[in-house]
Amino acid sequence: MRKLMMAALLIAVCSAGVSQMPVANSKIAPTLAPTPPMGWNSWNHFDKNVTQQDVMDAADALIKSGMRDAGYVYVNIDDTWEGDRDASGMLHSNAKFPDMKALGDYLHAHGLKFGIYSGPGPLTCAHYAASEGHEQQDADLYASWGVDYLKYDLCSFKKTDMDPATAAHPDDPQAANRLMREAYVKMRVALDHTGRPIVYSVCQYGWDNVWTWGPAVGGNLWRTTGDINDTYARMTELGFGQAGLAKFAGPGHWNDPDMLEVGNGKMSTEEYRTHMSLWALLAAPLIAGNDLSKMSDDTKALLMNKGVIAIDQDPLGKQGDRLRAEGLLEIWTRPLAGGALAVGLFNRVTAPATISVTLKELGIKSPHEIVNVWTGEKVEAKGGVISAIVPNHGVLLLRITP
Ligand code: GAL
Repeated sequence: MRKLMMAALLIAVCSAGVSQMPVANSKIAPTLAPTPPMGWNSWNHFDKNVTQQDVMDAADALIKSGMRDAGYVYVNIDDTWEGDRDASGMLHSNAKFPDMKALGDYLHAHGLKFGIYSGPGPLTCAHYAASEGHEQQDADLYASWGVDYLKYDLCSFKKTDMDPATAAHPDDPQAANRLMREAYVKMRVALDHTGRPIVYSVCQYGWDNVWTWGPAVGGNLWRTTGDINDTYARMTELGFGQAGLAKFAGPGHWNDPDMLEVGNGKMSTEEYRTHMSLWALLAAPLIAGNDLSKMSDDTKALLMNKGVIAIDQDPLGKQGDRLRAEGLLEIWTRPLAGGALAVGLFNRVTAPATISVTLKELGIKSPHEIVNVWTGEKVEAKGGVISAIVPNHGVLLLRITP
């Protein structure tokens, strides 16, 4: 009896805690991003030096290269566009961005969408003005510029109260979590209040299992990790680290293992192919982060492979997951619309390796066609086994269609 009472009490306390957690009740959020957002962001290449001209050049390059028509439509300015607030609290862009409204108009006139960056604390990560205490004012300002996408980065938010590794308050972890959720809800509500449909990118590095509450605060995507960099080690640490998160993603709400490094120059073509293939299997947002105005043909081919993009943007909206790993050889699968299946055979070793999988293990029973997505070539499953020598740090990405 005593045990039962204790259990009942525990349930009551837990559910009281959960029910107090703030929610956005956004009617707009679930209608946005039916497939993972695609576009470009200034941070990975331009870092703090980005200017309005760089963003216009990126927009022009999206159009000229064919990337816009391949689906990359969001042009997102990351941190360091922010200037000062005037006496009324109105934020102005800094000298690097002389005319945000003109920039928004330019993007829209060219079939692109406009993304911007801020955060719930007093300052952004690069110590520029963020939105704390000015949420509605800033949301209204973004809407007046024609903003379609906001990346909202936790950074300075109540930092002193939190353990930087987990965002947990030393005395009361639930209180810290509630504060953080509240801050994200506040901006979603402000965005919705503008009447403009604005995609909401929650950026707090995956703290507190954000995938379990991202949709409740009206997030359309949420970073599940810390920052990517242009190395195979970091890219694969983030990408393969997504195992088990598939069930939290779906149309309108996506796990985000961070932006692309393709074309930034420090990985091999094979490694970038792994990056794109893995992000596509993960239904990850495809936000290019390179200098689009100086792209090699190789980079264009990596970013614009139609079959890879089709996997990422598959209308079923189911994220893929790890099927099996043997040491550093991994097999990932993603169910696609119409009963098709995407399969990635990844070799994380520094020498070529043979990777095999049976159709039975993949659950394929009916007649099917197997295509190597990167080359378009047909692949045979001899005796019901798909087997290939996969280059070092490379991938064989397949689409199996019934
Ligand atoms: C980081 C964020 C990066 C970038 C940077 C800007 O916190 O994860 O993607 O936005 O801030 O200062």
